[in-house]
Formats: sequence, C-alpha cells, structure tokens
Amino acid sequence: SMKYSLLAGGKRLRPVLLLAAYHMAEADLTPALPFAAALEMVHTYSLIHDDRPAMDNDDLRRGKPTCHKVFGEGMAVLAGDGLLSLAFETMAQSGHPRAFLALRELALRCGTRGMVAGQCADLKAEETGGDEALLQYIHLHKTADLITAPIVMGLTLAGAEDTLIEAGREYGRNLGVAFQVIDDILDVTGSEAVLGKHTGKDAK
Ligand code: IPE
Ligand code: IPE
Ligand code: MG
Ligand code: MG
Repeated sequence: SMKYSLLAGGKRLRPVLLLAAYHMAEADLTPALPFAAALEMVHTYSLIHDDRPAMDNDDLRRGKPTCHKVFGEGMAVLAGDGLLSLAFETMAQSGHPRAFLALRELALRCGTRGMVAGQCADLKAEETGGDEALLQYIHLHKTADLITAPIVMGLTLAGAEDTLIEAGREYGRNLGVAFQVIDDILDVTGSEAVLGKHTGKDAK
C-alpha cells in the first residue's frame, strides 16, 4: 500500500525542488537523494490521509484509485504512518554530516506547527467557514510549508550561507501559496484526465 501510492507517479515537485536547491551550492546530487526520497514519502503520506473518508473522501489520486479504495481504510492509515516513519529512517541513515538539520526542518514543516496545523484549520473551516486571513493561514501551512522545506533542506545540506537559505525560505513561501491557489483554481477549471484527481470537490 505504501509503494502503491508512493510510486503512482506524482509530479515529484518537492524532491525536484530539494535537488535544484542543493545543486545551487553542490554539483554532485547523490548525497541529497535520500532527502529527496524522504520528502516524497512525507508528501505521499499527507495525500493518503487527506483522501481518506474522514477528511476529503476522494477516490481518485494520481490517476489511480486512492489508497483506502484499494487496501481499505485501516491499511491506508498504516500506509501513511509507515511512510512518515520511513522518511525519517531514510534521512537518519543517510550518513550526511548535516542530516540532523534537514531532519529538523522537515519535522517542523510537516508537524503540528506546519502541514498538520494547516490541515487542522482546513478541516475546521469546512464547518465554520472563514475569511481571507484564515485562507492564507491554510495555504501557508497545509501546502507552502512542504514546499519551503525542500528548498531550505537542499540549501542547508549543501552548506549554503544563511542569507541564501532565508531567501530560499521566502521564495518557498510565495511559491507554495501560489501553488495552492492554482490547485484550488484547477479544481474548478481543470480536467480529471490531466490532474489525475476528481474536480469540483471544493465547491461540494
Ligand atoms: C497535491 O500536491 C496536494 C497539494 C498540496 C495541492 P501535488 O499537486 O504536488 O501532487 P502530486 O505529488 O503531483 O500528486
Ligand atoms: C492537500 O490539500 C494538502 C495536503 C495533503 C497536505 P487539498 O486537499 O486541497 O489537495 P487535493 O485537491 O486533495 O490534492
Ligand atoms: Mg484537503
Ligand atoms: Mg484533498
């Protein structure tokens, strides 16, 4: 179930961002690969859980039936849990001298002050509604935090200077918010064949 969702063929934006950021300071990308893989594991875990009936209740993802549709709800919970743990195992075992800093950045961005906080606010807003400030909070955390993390992790692992890392963080925040705004627009204007997921869900 973990492999099914992880290798279903997403855009792999987050791993690519990490490698691109790393490449700004280091030519050989090999030491960054475990971290690129870890990001895709964390992102895929967030999608598996996001699609479950208790959250967005979606049955199509990456052009395939969602994890819980194929393996059942219990297994989908465990696939997400397993991918999250495997991500940290993979980073810890990389042997990279700056692994701890990257690990800490990802833990911060995917946890209760990051993606999880954004998903909580998103869930609550479905019941209570919200204003533009809340929408910005949701976009920043549920999405931009996992777009910022790859850039900061890549630059940090490559030993880039603090000023570059801070510029990367700002770039990631803006890119991440724009990415989610476009994802929301595509839910209205996009096609299922291209997106690999059902459209019209947000209005519902
Ligand atoms: C989907 O992310 C969830 C959002 C944050 C909008 P992606 O659009 O990057 O999904 P994949 O990885 O290509 O499937
Ligand atoms: C997904 O956001 C964000 C995370 C899984 C963290 P959405 O629920 O808006 O994205 P889609 O439309 O299911 O991809
Ligand atoms: Mg959602
Ligand atoms: Mg969703």
